[in-house]
Amino acid sequence: MRKKVIAGNWKMNNDLSESQNLITKLTSGLSNLKLNCDVIICPPYTSLSEANSLIKNTIVKLGAQNVYHEDNGAFTGEVSPQMLKSVGCEYVIIGHSERRTIFKESNETINKKVKKALEHSLKVIFCIGETLEEREKNITNDVVKKQVTEGLEGIDEKEMSNIIVAYEPVWAIGTGKVATPQQAQDVHKFIRQLIENKYSSSVADDLTIQYGGSVKPDNAEELLSQPDIDGALVGGACLKAESFIGIIKAA
Ligand code: PGA
Repeated sequence: MRKKVIAGNWKMNNDLSESQNLITKLTSGLSNLKLNCDVIICPPYTSLSEANSLIKNTIVKLGAQNVYHEDNGAFTGEVSPQMLKSVGCEYVIIGHSERRTIFKESNETINKKVKKALEHSLKVIFCIGETLEEREKNITNDVVKKQVTEGLEGIDEKEMSNIIVAYEPVWAIGTGKVATPQQAQDVHKFIRQLIENKYSSSVADDLTIQYGGSVKPDNAEELLSQPDIDGALVGGACLKAESFIGIIKAA
């Protein structure tokens, strides 16, 4: 049985005091619940260290939203895996569609980041997903296959235990337009099949595949009840403790 994983991607939101408020509300709201899932928050870099202190002795785990693929050096503005580890990160999101589109990250760059993060024992939330144009052209599976093949190139079977795949159709991110449970399930099943073909059925069975794109408390339960949907990567709805907790409760 795969344990569900609910992760909150704060994106470029919340300064230090807003972060403190949100985490305090979240951890106190979760403290009396019996949860069936893992919970991860991914605040911006500037709040990671404080977040790490505030989640001590709670079930909440810490992740970053991005990382660079070098250990150190003249890379102005970038942050290395060791730096993330030093402020308590266990996870890092790599290849989010906003990184791919706004910051022009290619599958090759993303692959370098995945390798470097794994080398430093960070767990990776590896994001993939098609645009609306690609879905309308009926090439969703081809796009996802290319992202998986190139993004996970050179990653071995053992390393796959530190990878979570997040399927996020770009047309559903931040738009309020959620994929239907069946649309999401179909792609999740296809991704699991790709992983089985590339590795083995046990790697595929153990792989956590999250859905992301306008997940809200009122649509989470139906999405999360699909056989191949093992969690959610949540943007907008994780910025309010109540709605993030609502999704966590649905898992
Ligand atoms: P959203 O974002 O929940 O606001 O659609 C999801 C994401 O980008 O991870």
